[in-house]
Amino acid sequence: MSTLATTVDGLNFKNPFVIGSGPPGTNVKVIKRAFKEGWGGVIAKTVSLDSSKVINVSPRYGKLHANDGKEVIGWENIELISDRKLETWIDEFKEAKDAHPDGILIASVMEEYNKDGWCELIERCQDAGVDAFELNFSCPHGMPERKMGAAMGQDPEMLEEVCGWVMGVSKIPAWAKMTPNITHIEEPSAAALRAGCHGISAINTIRSVIGVNLDTLRPEPSVEGYTTPGGYSSKAVKPIALRMCMEVAQLIKKDFPGRSLSGLGGVETGADAAQFILLGSDTVQVCTGVMKFGYGMVQGLCDELLEFMEGKGFETIDDFKGASLPYFTSHTELVRMQAERKAKQAAEKEAAMVKNDAEWDGDDFVKQSDALSR
Ligand SMILES: Cc1cc2nc3c(=O)[nH]c(=O)nc-3n(C[C@H](O)[C@H](O)[C@H](O)COP(=O)(O)O)c2cc1C
Repeated sequence: MSTLATTVDGLNFKNPFVIGSGPPGTNVKVIKRAFKEGWGGVIAKTVSLDSSKVINVSPRYGKLHANDGKEVIGWENIELISDRKLETWIDEFKEAKDAHPDGILIASVMEEYNKDGWCELIERCQDAGVDAFELNFSCPHGMPERKMGAAMGQDPEMLEEVCGWVMGVSKIPAWAKMTPNITHIEEPSAAALRAGCHGISAINTIRSVIGVNLDTLRPEPSVEGYTTPGGYSSKAVKPIALRMCMEVAQLIKKDFPGRSLSGLGGVETGADAAQFILLGSDTVQVCTGVMKFGYGMVQGLCDELLEFMEGKGFETIDDFKGASLPYFTSHTELVRMQAERKAKQAAEKEAAMVKNDAEWDGDDFVKQSDALSR
């Protein structure tokens, strides 16, 4: 019988489905709800040392609809990291772990380019009993002037230094969360893995402008008539997320065997999750999906993934993790393989073609007839 239970970086997940950092993990109430509904793990909303610098606006979401407005396929947000105090978070991490000791609780952390700050944040969160860290090097909007989030994730040298600080004090696994707003995601990923991070999470949101209101002529989401580019997520980003996960997985396979990958971006179904795993993910995160369908969606995710595994005869996640990775190659190679196949077919056809009636043969009769028919 197939099982969804999986161990990643020594952490025992009852299933590979993890709440992605954002509103679905924004306080202890919703974290406990997620565990109750059956999520294997929860990555809490990103915390920092000084929440007083975090000031959100509203509206801060914008949606892209399809199917005559019936379906949301894209979602932009200009939301910052958590605006709640670290002291409150520390209490809530403890409360969540006490209530759900078997649920994997991951603290998402982000700080300025300052060693003492990062070390203090890591030590305080790990003392609260969280199971692992996700280092947020990827928020595309907000606080670039403080060199936080994507501003740090786009600079592999700085990222490697910061990951080194973190790994110097962290006693638990750490995943570095990558921004997709970069040409080669392998470069910051390699920097984080060189510094000793256990794994990579990919992707955060894609820098975007969701649209312009044709009545007011103002871009959205409109705050006092103005906006700022935000982060794009949901179903529409899945192809980009899959490509980037594939690139990170190839890097891990080649240069960092044994390190982990947590894939995310547009996951809504068990079939989506199966694709992320086939491209090398150990776990699969969902953020916007929970905002669209609620915490209970995890049951459908588990059922669909199990059904896929049973249909294919896979007993564990490891049985098919990365199984589709060998089937990527260069375009030049695709052209070469196609030309080779066509030449082989033409040669076979030529060989099957009877040159005179003496060559007709009872065993090859159908093949010989076919060869003469086009
Ligand atoms: C409203 C909103 C808030 C988010 N806040 C955070 C955050 O605090 N930290 C973080 O690392 N990612 C944050 N994210 C990014 C998600 O964790 C995720 O990387 C991204 O949305 C893609 O996955 P999805 O399509 O499943 O949402 C946020 C996403 C949304 C939609």
